Amino acid sequence: MKSSSIFTLAGLLTSVAGHGYLTIPSSRTRLGFEAGIDTCPECAILEPVTAWPDLEEAQVGRSGPCGYNARVSVDYNQPSDNWGNSVVATYTAEDTIEVQWCVDHNGDHGGMFTYGICTNQTLVDLFLDPDYLPTNDEKQAAEDCFLAGELKCTDVSGQTCGYNPDCTSDQACYRNDWFTCNAFNADTNRGCEGVDGAALNSCTTTIAGGYNVTKKIKLPNYSSDHTLLRWRWNSYQTAQVYLGCADIAITGGSGSGSSSSSSSSSSSTTSATSKTSSTTTTTTTSSTTSSATCTAATSVAVTFNELVTTTYGENIFLTGSISQLSSWDTSSAIALSASSYTSSNPLWTATVTLPAGTTFEYKFIKKESDGTVVWESDPNRSYTVPTGCATAATVATTWR
Ligand SMILES: *[C@@H]1O[C@H](CO)[C@@H](O)[C@H](O)[C@H]1NC(C)=O
Ligand SMILES: *[C@@H]1O[C@H](CO)[C@@H](O)[C@H](O)[C@H]1NC(C)=O
Ligand SMILES: *[C@@H]1O[C@H](CO)[C@@H](O)[C@H](O)[C@H]1NC(C)=O
Ligand SMILES: *[C@@H]1O[C@H](CO)[C@@H](O)[C@H](O)[C@H]1NC(C)=O
Repeated sequence: MKSSSIFTLAGLLTSVAGHGYLTIPSSRTRLGFEAGIDTCPECAILEPVTAWPDLEEAQVGRSGPCGYNARVSVDYNQPSDNWGNSVVATYTAEDTIEVQWCVDHNGDHGGMFTYGICTNQTLVDLFLDPDYLPTNDEKQAAEDCFLAGELKCTDVSGQTCGYNPDCTSDQACYRNDWFTCNAFNADTNRGCEGVDGAALNSCTTTIAGGYNVTKKIKLPNYSSDHTLLRWRWNSYQTAQVYLGCADIAITGGSGSGSSSSSSSSSSSTTSATSKTSSTTTTTTTSSTTSSATCTAATSVAVTFNELVTTTYGENIFLTGSISQLSSWDTSSAIALSASSYTSSNPLWTATVTLPAGTTFEYKFIKKESDGTVVWESDPNRSYTVPTGCATAATVATTWR
């Protein structure tokens, strides 16, 4: 076992409720929730598994790529009356689209997440047949295919893709092709809810209210009249992975597009729109605005990662020329967290939400246990908060 310390921690914390699910495009889980069949859509959990630091180590088992919700005994890998028989959104190949999942306030476990398209239609078709539940081997083969068809953060030009502050550079989670949540123990904009910095109840969960987590993905050069978009979130705090699928169509690309289970795709396409229109208006909006445009972020959650070796009793703070950074007042400077500090990776981190486009100067300071302040050497550091679609950015520095 690679991550015994995480496992121990998770063992103590498994009573933490909460979690998340894919909302845009409307996932099978969301449809199950809206149909009243799933009373806790954010609870489709694969556990206990190694979720961290190797994001791809866990076998999906019964959960498959689309999730099994043990709380209500619903297997989303098989279509039912309320999901999986028709598509919820139609996209154009190679378009950049906005997708969203919802994290619960009381179960934001931090970590990293990814989206994928499996371009082997033969495999995907196994998940489109209302009369067939795929075997665990088929579920794993499909998950491997979804991982191979990963829609990378870095494939979207202009999108900020950072490393997870809870992951050190020698760990398997140190990758920016997956999307990352903010630092699990950050004082502000923590975890996955810190990605958008959205308001509580910006999306619906059943436990403590949810927060939007919005990203952009670029669809592959592939067509299908019925395929699946798979979402996967690996938890940092707990030994858990969350999985979900949305039924979508992609037009205008190359590749084998026709689903073989015509009874479950073509015949239901027309009824699909009306069946889901009352509940998935946001999906429709999302698909019509999907053609490469994006909403400019007005504020950005900027994570400052400072490498600085400290001794017990010393703490690191951030101060600078703008009010959000205490206007150079050392007594009200922003405290950084050492929750991920190790001797080989002496990381101090804090996330501050700042208006897009703001330019400012700043420095890190060290406060000794007796209150003495030690400044970094000159010159002042300078930074401009990015403008664009990204709602998060990372600044990595070393004490000087
Ligand atoms: C698609 O998946 C099926 C079932 O696992 C497999 O037999 C086939 O070789 C795959 N096709 C491609 C092109 O990889
Ligand atoms: C959250 O997402 C929903 C769509 O699911 C959208 O209507 C809402 O405006 C978003 N809220 C914020 C604060 O981004
Ligand atoms: C998409 O794939 C088709 C078929 O392979 C190819 O003709 C086309 O050029 C591809 N489009 C792009 C933008 O690469
Ligand atoms: C850093 O900024 C402070 C506050 O504006 C200023 O007093 C100081 O001269 C600056 N340091 C340098 C080296 O420019």
